[in-house]
Amino acid sequence: MSELKTQGYKRYDYMKDLYYEGIEKDYEELRDYFRNDLPEDEYAKGLNRFRRYSRALVLPTSRQIEWLPNIKKDDKEYAAYFQGKFNPEHPGDYREFAAIDEPILNNKLLRKIIMADYDETFWNEEDLIMPIHVGVHFVKLRVEHENDIAVSSPNSLHQDGEPFTFAHLIERRNVEGGTNAIGIPEVRHQLPEDTKDGELHEVFEITKPLESYGVADHMVSHYVSPITRGEKDEEGLRSILLIDYQLTVVAEMDE
Ligand SMILES: [Fe+2]
Repeated sequence: MSELKTQGYKRYDYMKDLYYEGIEKDYEELRDYFRNDLPEDEYAKGLNRFRRYSRALVLPTSRQIEWLPNIKKDDKEYAAYFQGKFNPEHPGDYREFAAIDEPILNNKLLRKIIMADYDETFWNEEDLIMPIHVGVHFVKLRVEHENDIAVSSPNSLHQDGEPFTFAHLIERRNVEGGTNAIGIPEVRHQLPEDTKDGELHEVFEITKPLESYGVADHMVSHYVSPITRGEKDEEGLRSILLIDYQLTVVAEMDE
């Protein structure tokens, strides 16, 4: 049984686990896209955060990945990100992110990663009569100048709300920080350094291309620390492919 199920998180080395002829070329295509084609996060202006987002369905029986359509605005494609749809304070609240371009959605490695993560997730049998919703986030933190700092949101141990999230390192260059911590659920909202002995499962860094980890959200809390520039007199960056998995949620009839 996967450690994801027994301890609530698991670390992976996908460059090795998913190896196939041509993986390097597909990896480079993703890496270069992160380097050159991620616009600034419109919801985090001036915070050194760049991102794109697209959403897909995985059909459990046929194992097909079906990308959901975008919204077109000023000739640019956006993908809607629903959050707190069931949060009474923000009914129907959603954000729009620049969508991932079509050729990248067909990148073989990206599709293999989506299915490899999917195969790690676990659900009730009756849940799998509906598609699983997959959120694919391309996120880059970039620190250009000596005293720049880039912070992941939220900046504390937390749970995401989606049942499963996986993080895959695309590139880490000339940065300090970006340290991950996995804790028990009860330490959410705290910083790792404020927790007590035994409340953190592990503190680690992912440094190699496609080094990854996944969390079963209800079982653990997780955290990544801010990044600053490393020793070299050049920009630093940390690019992460984040993928979350959730059920199709059916509204109650009498709502
Ligand atoms: Fe998170």
